[in-house]
Amino acid sequence: MAILSILEFPDERLRKKALPVAEVDAAIRQLVDDMLETMYAAPGIGLAATQVNVQKRVLVLDISDQKNAPYCFINPEILEESGREQSEEGCLSVPGIFEKVTRSNKITVRALNREGELFEMETEGLLAVCIQHEIDHLEGKLFVDHLSPLKRQMVRNKLKKGQRTRAGGHGQTGSRSSASL
Ligand code: NI
Repeated sequence: MAILSILEFPDERLRKKALPVAEVDAAIRQLVDDMLETMYAAPGIGLAATQVNVQKRVLVLDISDQKNAPYCFINPEILEESGREQSEEGCLSVPGIFEKVTRSNKITVRALNREGELFEMETEGLLAVCIQHEIDHLEGKLFVDHLSPLKRQMVRNKLKKGQRTRAGGHGQTGSRSSASL
């Protein structure tokens, strides 16, 4: 396994659209394993292939406290969604930024698992939010795109300041990355 490097906003490669996986083969399983290792190391609770500069429709998640319940969704598709809920999100590609985003509360998703088997899952709450966040990544969309233009500008300014800080060797900004995806 290998730890992959995670692209950070405003890297234009985060805007690329991921392509469907034609076949779940050894290379895809390797990608899934590397993405899980990268996500756990970050640390984060979710990661989309787009974030590691691979344009394939693959995402991994683990929202468990013990980090022992990995999920893998290949070619995910939301079949049904309902309800609206606002929750705070962070993103490994937008480090140190946490903002409230409104999404569907309950979703039914269909995807292939690591073995290439089709499955359907109905889920709500945090897992539903995470899946929607990661599918956005596959479309080249970031959670900050859901914010108002004013809020987005504030995020940009904060990130610029953060990058200056890091470049100046004053350490990293933000310490709540465990909830980033
Ligand atoms: Ni993200």
